[in-house]
Amino acid sequence: LDGRRLVVMSNRQPYSHEYDGDEVVVNRPAGGLTAALDPVIQTVGGTWVAWGSGEADRVVADDDVVEVPPEDPAYDLRRVWLDEEQVDGYYYGYSNQALWPLSHSDTTRATFSRDDWKCYREVNELFAEAAVEACDDADPVIWFQDYHFGLAPQMARERLGEDAFLMQFWHLPWTGWDVFRACPQAEQLLDGLLANDLLGFHTAAYCQHFLDTVEATTDYDVDRGTRCVRQNDRRTYVRPFRIGIDADAQAAAADTDEAASFWETFADAHGLEDRRVGVGVDRLDYTKGIVERLEALEQFFETRPEWRGEFTFVQKGSESRSRIPAYRKVQERVEAKVADINSRFGTTDWQPIVYTTEMLSGEALAGLYRHADLCLVTSLRDGMNLVAKEFAAAQLDTTGVLVLSELAGASDELGDDAVLIHPSDTPAVADAIERALSMPADERERRMRGLREQVLDADVYEWIASQFRTAERIERPGPEQE
Ligand code: G6P
Repeated sequence: LDGRRLVVMSNRQPYSHEYDGDEVVVNRPAGGLTAALDPVIQTVGGTWVAWGSGEADRVVADDDVVEVPPEDPAYDLRRVWLDEEQVDGYYYGYSNQALWPLSHSDTTRATFSRDDWKCYREVNELFAEAAVEACDDADPVIWFQDYHFGLAPQMARERLGEDAFLMQFWHLPWTGWDVFRACPQAEQLLDGLLANDLLGFHTAAYCQHFLDTVEATTDYDVDRGTRCVRQNDRRTYVRPFRIGIDADAQAAAADTDEAASFWETFADAHGLEDRRVGVGVDRLDYTKGIVERLEALEQFFETRPEWRGEFTFVQKGSESRSRIPAYRKVQERVEAKVADINSRFGTTDWQPIVYTTEMLSGEALAGLYRHADLCLVTSLRDGMNLVAKEFAAAQLDTTGVLVLSELAGASDELGDDAVLIHPSDTPAVADAIERALSMPADERERRMRGLREQVLDADVYEWIASQFRTAERIERPGPEQE
């Protein structure tokens, strides 16, 4: 793909402009995908198309485009402006109340409003147009991120023709076809996605589910051997690419003075020094199984009185998508359950659950992970789950245990060395907590070494590189494509 112009599209932007009093300040990516992609796009150049959601974004952008990073411009950030109604329909509506629950197989929470769908289509048009403008008539490579852009690839293809190379990564699980058919717009979404040359999912199972869905819903030809969908002359290759984290950066963050001093102060404030400590870190989302986790902790303390006063669980939550009632409900249920457990078992000098929604720096969080004896990941469904990987990378002393839901994509690669649980089996999760806390040091070390090896090896840079290697092979087909 040498020499082609690269356009990346994601809902969230890598840099946002905000007000600090009267002054405009730049917010940089603190973590996650945008933080990992930013240095890569800085190296190759090109354009990043994203929703201009910062409160001062419009003040700085000339002609919608701002060069970033501001102090040493390396690529263009092209912002798409959305009004309130579009944000409601496209982001809070169709993306997060239709596609999000549907993709996590939660059809009872999924609502498919016609108005939201209309907005989603309209906003996908705006993004596709912005991408086309950014291409400057050259044959580009456009890389779409995630479920916010189920239609944009087809819209871009119609404008750019067959010579553009389009690729997309779907960061959520892909459900079985019998779940996906609950979506009235299933066919339009498949047509949207099948305009890509390459479509990536986290696991081989999600790829299979996608191909099953195409086979059951459309007349297109699904070739299982090459994992490819053919419609006339077009082919879409469907491949697994497991996302990782910037594991070296995470390990380095865990080794900083800031990590150490955060932990010291935090442990002191909550009386953690002489106790065993568990940790959970989540966006407050119903897919993460946080209430289920708290129920397991409650059962653990109820049935194992010897651990009362000996073990504290730290739950860090971050507020998310709060305009949606289901998300507010999770926040309330988590708070109520924490209060319940603490009043039931807490004593004057011991609080069973420490719950915080405070923003923590990457270093502080890494310090928390480093010193925890166990991490609980209890997602009811999860495309991958990067908390599991962040915990492992930060475990420099290899003393902690990862307790991981088998329903998270991460269990595919981390399943051998994590303690796997089914998040809805409360007694089994309580057993797993005890097992983790009682595990001999040599077994903990062996497992954590295994996890760290995997996480450090298959990092986010490998995830990016492997997609572009596959894209190259598709452009210049060799024997393995056929
Ligand atoms: C998931 C999605 C991302 C999204 C993130 C945070 O990981 O796959 O696309 O950015 O959640 O959610 P938010 O709605 O705040 O962007």
